[in-house]
Amino acid sequence: KEVTWDVEAASKEGFDHFMLKEIYQQPEAIQHTIERRLDDEGYIQLDDIQLSKLELNAIRKVYIVACGTAYHAGLVGKHILEKALQVDVNAEIGSEFRYNDQFIDDKTLVIIVSQSGETADTLASLREAKSKGARILSITNVVGSSVARESDDIFYTWAGPEIAVASTKAYTTQLVAFYMLGLYFGRLKGTLSDQLYKQHLNELQSITKQVERTINNCIEPAKVIAEKIKDSHSLFYLGRGLDYTSALEASLKLKELSYIHAEAFAAGELKHGTIALIEEGTPVIAIATQTKTYDKTISNIKSVKARGAYVIGITTTDNEDIEQVCDKTIYIAKKSDLFMPILSVIAPQLIAYYTSLAKGNDVDKPRNLAKSVTVE
Ligand code: G6P
Repeated sequence: KEVTWDVEAASKEGFDHFMLKEIYQQPEAIQHTIERRLDDEGYIQLDDIQLSKLELNAIRKVYIVACGTAYHAGLVGKHILEKALQVDVNAEIGSEFRYNDQFIDDKTLVIIVSQSGETADTLASLREAKSKGARILSITNVVGSSVARESDDIFYTWAGPEIAVASTKAYTTQLVAFYMLGLYFGRLKGTLSDQLYKQHLNELQSITKQVERTINNCIEPAKVIAEKIKDSHSLFYLGRGLDYTSALEASLKLKELSYIHAEAFAAGELKHGTIALIEEGTPVIAIATQTKTYDKTISNIKSVKARGAYVIGITTTDNEDIEQVCDKTIYIAKKSDLFMPILSVIAPQLIAYYTSLAKGNDVDKPRNLAKSVTVE
């Protein structure tokens, strides 16, 4: 009997698609990103980052520049680094940044985020900033990529190869990179006490198991939601603060995989126009994990519900009261607000995956998209 050898099937290791495999690889990828960077005393050690305490103290402004999913990681990075560095941090889209005339000098740190390290607009932004004297630190997954080669400092995400066009484990490990940079810089700059440093690091390390549980818990609800939304024309994700950044990534994931028009709204902005889009049965997925704004988001859910929306809530296990205002709820583990983006993106990844599957789309290679966009 002839033995057939399908390399692609073999590398999917039993999963139907690379995307699902990569979603499941997230706990392992995250662990990999963290563990190999801890020294014997449990402090973060970053071998590819040379930026000294003196140089860090001289930095007056930070830009984070990226495209697509990596840009959304940058939006979370902004929240983290502003706390750690206590200077202005802006997250910018590569294709905008390269043509804007920002004031950049040798007191500017530019953080480039790119899974592939080859995205044309991102690379052009790097070169533009470098020519103006900025210090360049890159977060990338590909060792020896153009972005890595042209940077002063590098943080490799070590997520392993990501084959599916829609980014999953690259995104969550980019988030981990920002948490680790925040801790590392906070300690170097003295903005973070040793106690808080250890507390945050413990919280980051414990996320691996929670990611694993969240994936397992979200599979069944994601399948049900996919069936519910697959024929919708439009869907809206709502959130505030870090839940809004997750909503942006969630809606991008759904757009690219299901071809459904999906948009993210900062929940507090709804009343300024966008609530006009809500009709009877419009699906709305509200991400409500941030304690500071939880009650406000609940009010926003009530107002879309009153206009006929079908509301799905994504919240932490302590917020059961959300069931009174939502048609369906997905519960995820609770962490402090700053760390929630890693957990809050998992259900949206799975919802996008199962909706694409339900529609018969090409999950790993959605139409019109490329894994790495190396032309302008
Ligand atoms: C493409 C991919 C996206 C990715 C973006 C940036 O559009 O389809 O998934 O987020 O490029 O890619 P990079 O390799 O720079 O992170």
